Amino acid sequence: MFAEEKLIPVPFDVYRFDPAQGGEPRYQHYELKLAPHTPVLSGLLKIRDEVDPTLALRYSCRSAICGSCAMLVNSKSRLACRTPVGPEVAKHGRVVIDPMRNQPVLRDLVVDQRGFWSNYRRIEPRLLLDPSRPMPEGRPTQMTPAQVDRFRETPRCIACASCYSACPAVEADPEFPGPMALAKLYRFVVDPRDGAHDERLRKVQLSGLWLCLRCHLCTEACPKDVRPSERIRDLKELAVRSQGATERGSRHAVGFLENIAEAGQLNEMKLVRQTDGLVGTVGQLGQGLRLARKKPELLKKPRTIDGVEEVRKLYEALQKDEEVPL
Ligand code: FES
Repeated sequence: MFAEEKLIPVPFDVYRFDPAQGGEPRYQHYELKLAPHTPVLSGLLKIRDEVDPTLALRYSCRSAICGSCAMLVNSKSRLACRTPVGPEVAKHGRVVIDPMRNQPVLRDLVVDQRGFWSNYRRIEPRLLLDPSRPMPEGRPTQMTPAQVDRFRETPRCIACASCYSACPAVEADPEFPGPMALAKLYRFVVDPRDGAHDERLRKVQLSGLWLCLRCHLCTEACPKDVRPSERIRDLKELAVRSQGATERGSRHAVGFLENIAEAGQLNEMKLVRQTDGLVGTVGQLGQGLRLARKKPELLKKPRTIDGVEEVRKLYEALQKDEEVPL
């Protein structure tokens, strides 16, 4: 129990919508008095239990373990059970609650997660053993500590979908597997016991790996510091190392790097050719000419910057960068 003087006014604006009833989504305003460290979830449960029993929300553990209370708190993906109201009120003057993005609303703060889970299933999140290399009896693992260390972050994931909600690539293309699925995929790709390393990388290149925008919003949203955007970057690197630049996205990334190593700055015209090949470049000719009329300098080969030797040294060091053997 907290002393009355420690309570602060906490204005809540909570998203309300019931598609079954029709009508438009709206925000319902509630005024509570709470201690500053009270979790947002406790505030919402107080509303549901004492003010408005029709409010729909999901939660279970109330301890940042189950991941079910993820929602937008003042526009940021958060676990409501571990987000205190005090700092939110101090920064925004109120607590605005929305359901997670990129998933259809079933009612109020409850979203339909079937897309999220079906994307997860697509990556086959389990060890796929190679029948020609059975596990040695009595030795359930052959991993070295360094190999285990490569995926130390991913087991922390609680599948709360905060990253999926924050991801603009999911919003643009629901076929994009999403940050969590890709981070989990990475965990199996670097597992030396898995027998589908190349096949997994081949499939994921064809099903959206390169749609990631590298915005890092997933990493910012993740409450467990899994850092999905870094795992996606690692997957891209592994895909290029194992299969070369075979996809449009990988050709663009490799071409970008080569451009920088060559002159220290981008040669835009060359990069288009490297990314799309001759046929693709011809298809973009109209747009290229319009662009060149506005910026004729794009047609010239860019000058090599001063100090490009330093850039090349970095490039060579990156090329030599040794991976832990699988
Ligand atoms: S209620 Fe389980 S993570 Fe918040």
